Amino acid sequence: MSRFEGRVAYVLGGGSDGPARPGETLPMGNGRAIALRLAAEGATVVVGDKVLARAEATVEHLAVPGLAVEVDAADPGSCRAAVAAALAHGGRLDIVVCNVGLSGREPLKVQSIEDWDIASDVNVRSHWLTAQAALEPMLERGSGAFVFVGSTAGVYSSRRSLSYEATKAAQLAVMRHVAVRYAGRGIRANAVVLGTIDSALVRREFGDAPGAARASVVPMGREGRPEEAAGAVAFLVSDDAGYVTGQSLLVDGGVSAAWPIPPVVS
Ligand SMILES: NC(=O)c1ccc[n+]([C@@H]2O[C@H](COP(=O)([O-])OP(=O)(O)OC[C@H]3O[C@@H](n4cnc5c(N)ncnc54)[C@H](O)[C@@H]3O)[C@@H](O)[C@H]2O)c1
Repeated sequence: MSRFEGRVAYVLGGGSDGPARPGETLPMGNGRAIALRLAAEGATVVVGDKVLARAEATVEHLAVPGLAVEVDAADPGSCRAAVAAALAHGGRLDIVVCNVGLSGREPLKVQSIEDWDIASDVNVRSHWLTAQAALEPMLERGSGAFVFVGSTAGVYSSRRSLSYEATKAAQLAVMRHVAVRYAGRGIRANAVVLGTIDSALVRREFGDAPGAARASVVPMGREGRPEEAAGAVAFLVSDDAGYVTGQSLLVDGGVSAAWPIPPVVS
C-alpha cells in the first residue's frame, strides 16, 4: 500500500541521538520512525534536525530518496528556511510533522526563565512558525495535513517539568487553531499525544535499562515503540483520516483511560 506516493512530507526533528534499543543499529526516535514510515508508504521526506548528521542518518534509511536539512527550531529564520528548502526540494508540501520537543526537568519551585524560554521557543514557537511557513502553498493547492507530536504531559500533569507541561498544552492549542481556522480550505491538523515511548529520548532521560517501572502503570504492561507513534501519525496524515481534524489521538497504552492506577494483570 502506498498511501503517500507522490506526496512530499517535512518532518521537523527527524533525527535521533541514541542510545539505541538492544539489537538496533539505528537509534530510534519518534521523529526518525515517522520519517521512515512516511517514506515506506511512498512519500518523499525532508528531514530537519539541529544536527545535520542525525537528519542524514535518517535520510540514508528512507525507502524513497529524501533530503536532510539543518534547522534550529529555536531560531525563527531557520524554521522558515527549512520549510523553504523542503518546498524547493519537493516542489510542494502535503504533510508537515512537527516533532521536535525538549523535555525540561524543572518543577515550579525551581523553574528558570531560561528553561521556560527554550521550551517555549522549541516546543511551541517553532511549531507555529513551521506551520505558518507551510500554510500558504497548501492553501493554494487546497490540501495539506499537519501533525503535532504531543505528550500526555500536555494533558495531565507528570509532576516533573512545568515548562514541558505548559508548552505541550500550548502546542495542542496551536494544533486546534490551525485545524479550525483552515478546515474549510482543505487543511487538516491533528496531534498524537504520546505516553511513554521506548525511544532514544526516554533512554537518555531515564537510562537505557528496560522501563519496568514505567511500564508497570501502563494497562498494556509495556512502553510504546517509536514505530507505533509513527503508525498513528501516518494514519492522521493519510486520506484514511480525511474527516479527522482538530483531534488529539492518545497513544499511551491505555494510561489515560485508567484511574487511579491500573492493576497489573499477570
Ligand atoms: N519518547 C517519549 O516517551 C515521548 C513521550 C511523549 C512525547 N514525546 C514527544 O516526542 C517528540 C520527540 O521525540 P523523539 O523520539 O523524536 O526525540 P529525540 O530526542 O530523538 O529528538 C529528535 C531530534 O530533535 C532534534 N532537536 C533537538 N533540538 C532541536 C532544535 N532546537 N532544532 C531542531 N532539531 C532539534 C535532535 O537533534 C533529535 O535528533 C517530542 O515532541 C516529545 O515531546 C516523546
